[in-house]
Amino acid sequence: MKHALNFYNRIDPAVENRVENLLSQMTLEEKVGQLLLKNAFAPIDWGEVLRQQKLADERGEPFHISLELNPVILEHARAGRVSAVNSAEVRLNNRLQRTAVEESRLHIPLLVGHDVIHGFRTIFPIPLAESCTWNPELLERTAAAAAAEAATQGINWIFAPMIDISRDPRWGRVAEGAGEDPFLGMAVAQARVRGIQSAALPGGRRIAACPKHYVGYGAAEAGRDYNTVDISERTLRDVYLPPFKSAFDSGAGSTMSSFNEISGIPGTCNTFLLRTVLREEWGWPGVVVSDFNAIGELVQHGVAKDLREAARLSILAGVDIDMESGAYAGYLAELVSTGAVPVGRVDDAVRRVLRLKFNLGLFENPYQDETLADQVILKPEFRSLALESARQSMVLLRNKQNILPLPQDHKRIALIGPLANNRADLLGTWAITGQAADVETVLAGIQHYTEPNLIAYEQGCSLSGLESPDFSAAIAAANSADVVVLVIGEGAGMSGEAHSRVRLGLPGRQAELVQALAATGKPLIAVLMCGRPLVVPDLVKSVDALLVAWHAGIRAGQAVADLLFGAANPSGKLTVSWPAAEGQIPVYYAHKSTGRPAEGQGTTQYHEPFRSTYLDETNAPLFSFGEGLSYASFEYRDLEVQTPVVAAAGTLRVTVYLKNTSSRAGVEVVQLYVRDMIGTVTRPSKELKGFQRVGLEAGEERQVQFELQAAGLGFHGLDGKYVVEPGEFRIWVGPDSTRGLEGKFDLEG
Ligand code: NOJ
Repeated sequence: MKHALNFYNRIDPAVENRVENLLSQMTLEEKVGQLLLKNAFAPIDWGEVLRQQKLADERGEPFHISLELNPVILEHARAGRVSAVNSAEVRLNNRLQRTAVEESRLHIPLLVGHDVIHGFRTIFPIPLAESCTWNPELLERTAAAAAAEAATQGINWIFAPMIDISRDPRWGRVAEGAGEDPFLGMAVAQARVRGIQSAALPGGRRIAACPKHYVGYGAAEAGRDYNTVDISERTLRDVYLPPFKSAFDSGAGSTMSSFNEISGIPGTCNTFLLRTVLREEWGWPGVVVSDFNAIGELVQHGVAKDLREAARLSILAGVDIDMESGAYAGYLAELVSTGAVPVGRVDDAVRRVLRLKFNLGLFENPYQDETLADQVILKPEFRSLALESARQSMVLLRNKQNILPLPQDHKRIALIGPLANNRADLLGTWAITGQAADVETVLAGIQHYTEPNLIAYEQGCSLSGLESPDFSAAIAAANSADVVVLVIGEGAGMSGEAHSRVRLGLPGRQAELVQALAATGKPLIAVLMCGRPLVVPDLVKSVDALLVAWHAGIRAGQAVADLLFGAANPSGKLTVSWPAAEGQIPVYYAHKSTGRPAEGQGTTQYHEPFRSTYLDETNAPLFSFGEGLSYASFEYRDLEVQTPVVAAAGTLRVTVYLKNTSSRAGVEVVQLYVRDMIGTVTRPSKELKGFQRVGLEAGEERQVQFELQAAGLGFHGLDGKYVVEPGEFRIWVGPDSTRGLEGKFDLEG
């Protein structure tokens, strides 16, 4: 399904006239008001909210936070002193809009933003999981479904997609992105922007996407959230910026400046990134909003001595909306009056905000029908979509002797682990408006396939508690069964913002639980739920099968069961490498050769004297980018580079035959990688440049064709400019980043 595309960053002369007309009527205070995102709610005891939520989760009951509008926000709306709020409840949002539209002097509607990261109420798998589908069309549909649900609440601005490339699983926010690769990241960014900004939202509403965090946030040193980032301009341009360019080319109406510094200059006052690249090079006219309090944090970064200076630096650099720091509210008018900031800078920022509000149709259609939610939220097609997405997101990484799929003829199953009968954690990070009560557990999923009396369920241990474990009940359950299904991993709160980890093994006592169950000698199937790659070499040695289920949302339990019993066939492939040890981080497939590459690729031996290797571990990750098994088996043959010589402005054509050599239908994600053998600057040892999901019936063979524009094979060269250099390229087409049929071609200048 392709939605009609909305370009909320378009320049339309009719809209520009309206913008100028309105701008000409505004006082300086009203202009500043258009640059403020403010908290709308009365103070709340979040500790108490979390306690109540936990209790509701434990009882399997829905949970609602009752937020009350802070009367001060209504005064601000009336006085034109607020432009945007972060809020997710239609009744409150209509009230706010009504105040702004009907009671303020210039009747300017509000942007109503919210973090809708992987679903609004129908929670889909976390974004990292969804990227493992390698299915942009599916991601477009889940983003559109999330937008439709959000639209029923009067939301018109979504703080997503998160498109930060990250090669560091310690960073908790790796869960929110699409993994380590810029080419895949570009496809995902486009798909999600298209989905969020799709035309047909309930009540004729429109929603602007906010691709974030501009830029480089995923490269935080040591994977610690908000930490320093130091990236060369070449790497920024080759790796971190491309998903943003794709998002803007797809019409994204806004972006969010990042918390981090980049090579000494915080993202929120980075003139080079916000002005030179975004405005001058790319000509993008959308809105830049700061991250939460990021303008204020320029003081902590140590580049501004106070909020006034922070406001000056940010507006001059090109941040349009101040999210909640109070810097613009407190000082921007004064900075203009005293000449420290030219009014033209403020006018330009206001123009961008008004343009977005006009493009969203908010002046014509500011309110939402409060009765729509019932028809849209959790509707059956969204629930089916969540199931489809969960099935495609999960990645099968081990399947010794084809132990999976499990036969449906009633084996006795021991279902063990802290996530086996758990709801809340399956939602994953950033599921603010999700409800644990909506989640299907794995236990419930398995009950669809197995009589209850044939399932022995035991929790085994808690998720992260370090109390002395008593595994006796779990061991007894295992001993009474033919096969053990272990559902283990991280809780939802172990990844996401400000949730970085340095030890990436199984939390708490879970690793001991695995060992205790392995000692029973029963076949072990591990279903691993997590928000990041984990470092689990011992687990891999101990189990017969490993299915990475991530945090897969409300249909996770059903999806796991469907995959375990073969009603669905795994097709997910990793979009981020899984380290063999934390010390390898960052470990990613597109690494450079170095002057002393490991001869055995670092995979066959640890230490090669005076080579780029480790003494105590291979260079290879435990699982590589692109890896993932199916219950079908596929064979590649006869790679043909049909254009052995390609012009820089030409098209590379490659074909390969793919055969399903098994007796069941399956989907293979066929991946195409290249290596530019000699460059004026060093090039990655492999780069993804194409992929296709290919479905084949049992025994079916098909020719798979790739067409690539040679213009996409360039990089930022010696002078920092994008260049496509002539010379020899190697090419691989295969099932993952480590294997494939090899060919070559020459690129002509
Ligand atoms: C902080 C997060 O970094 C960002 O992703 C989010 O959109 C804002 N808070 C608003 O909630």
